[in-house]
Amino acid sequence: MVFLPLQVLVQSAVIAVALFSHFAVAFPQHASLAGLSERDFHFAMTKLKAVVPASPPGPLRFDGSKLVFDKKHPWEAPRRGDLRGACPGLNTLASHGYLPRNGVATPSQIITAVQEAFNMENKLARFTTYFAMILDGNLVTDLISIGGKTPLTGVDPPLPAIVGGMTNHGTFEGDASVTRADSFFGDNHSFNQTLFDQFKDFSEEYGNGFYNMTVAGELRFHRIQQSIAQNPQFNLAGLRHLTAYAEVTFPANFFVDGRKQGSEIGQLDMKTAESFFKDMRFPKGFHRAAKPFEVDGIDVVFSAHPVLPGKNNGEEVDTFTVDESLGSLLDRCKLYTEYVNTTVRSLYPNPTGVLRRNLELNLQFLFDALSDFECTQVFL
Ligand code: HEM
Ligand SMILES: *[C@@H]1O[C@H](CO)[C@@H](O)[C@H](O)[C@H]1NC(C)=O
Ligand SMILES: *[C@@H]1O[C@H](CO)[C@@H](O)[C@H](O)[C@H]1NC(C)=O
Ligand SMILES: *[C@@H]1O[C@H](CO)[C@@H](O)[C@H](O)[C@H]1NC(C)=O
Ligand SMILES: *[C@@H]1O[C@H](CO)[C@@H](O)[C@H](O)[C@H]1NC(C)=O
Repeated sequence: MVFLPLQVLVQSAVIAVALFSHFAVAFPQHASLAGLSERDFHFAMTKLKAVVPASPPGPLRFDGSKLVFDKKHPWEAPRRGDLRGACPGLNTLASHGYLPRNGVATPSQIITAVQEAFNMENKLARFTTYFAMILDGNLVTDLISIGGKTPLTGVDPPLPAIVGGMTNHGTFEGDASVTRADSFFGDNHSFNQTLFDQFKDFSEEYGNGFYNMTVAGELRFHRIQQSIAQNPQFNLAGLRHLTAYAEVTFPANFFVDGRKQGSEIGQLDMKTAESFFKDMRFPKGFHRAAKPFEVDGIDVVFSAHPVLPGKNNGEEVDTFTVDESLGSLLDRCKLYTEYVNTTVRSLYPNPTGVLRRNLELNLQFLFDALSDFECTQVFL
């Protein structure tokens, strides 16, 4: 994995913020499947179609570039009730039918789609998907929404919406996104024109009109500074520290047409960027990347302005304090261990039956995908 060179940066970053103290926090409460009362949960269980999750798909056999905006994958605008969320990659895949157009998919469908249409590397696709699935998916039905929750229909008396979704704030969705506002300001997942204008301004200033890893490093840092100064509940701890840095590499790796050559590789023009971020649509004739990409470039982005994991105190802005209790990009095994031992345990305090079996299977799939991290496996 390309994270490795980062270890050397930890030292200087730690010194820079050594004045701050550490503190632990409880994981934010939210309604997932496990958030139901015991009575509602057992009732829901009898209404859900329980499945055994399939093993994750393997790597592509042909992993070069090819046309992906083809006749079999026409763009269609989302219809009423179709779900879309904060991820421009998955939104685009749903709008082209690489994922079910309603925005609800199995983890295997997501892994297959991101590989097939964007050439995302297999292990990255797997661990990203299972990190999200375990936090926001319905482990019983093996389905996850790429947007908000889906209601459980046809149940009398009606139950609260129980199929989790990726826009669930504080799980996978997080603060300081580059084209989405922080949840604190209301809408956590819609395309935000003001922020996209800033994306274009930074691409002009640091990329001569193109978004590349230099721009990503500056914009990532700027968005963090904005959130520290504006959002009292700003949180960049644990998994969000990893995803915040990883996500800003994706546009330069996955949204650039795979036919680009030489110095044009990794340089995203603004018309193409708008097509993905705003319209959830491949540009005409789009070809996927010419090779499987991981989070290539994340070391460049992080080292431009290393910020350690942490958060504001929840009440006031400009109170950012380092908090490494849930791990980070810099301590990936701690991130994994705390994810299972703290976050997942608090979401699912006492899983039984099918839920427990499927949770264990998904955790195994996650651990398998993290094999490059060389961590010790944690069991429930
Ligand atoms: C492998 C499965 C994937 C999952 C589960 C996933 C999920 C997510 C989620 C939940 C977010 C919102 C996080 C936040 O900023 O608050 C996000 C952001 C993002 N995703 Fe994905 N994603 C996946 C694959 C991809 C792919 C293949 C691409 C590109 C082709 C992509 C591009 C992005 C970008 C650019 C953002 C940041 C948006 C912004 O900061 O405004 N993702 N993803
Ligand atoms: C877009 O983001 C900006 C900056 O975070 C925020 O002030 C504004 O309210 C957001 N607009 C919408 C429509 O959510
Ligand atoms: C995320 O945004 C949606 C749409 O504005 C909103 O309904 C939802 O409550 C938000 N979630 C959180 C946890 O802020
Ligand atoms: C980004 O673009 C700018 C302007 O062309 C260039 O100076 C810089 O080296 C590029 N960075 C990368 C990582 O390609
Ligand atoms: C996980 O948590 C349990 C109980 O809270 C603790 O005993 C155990 O040592 C933890 N495991 C790891 C690997 O941190």
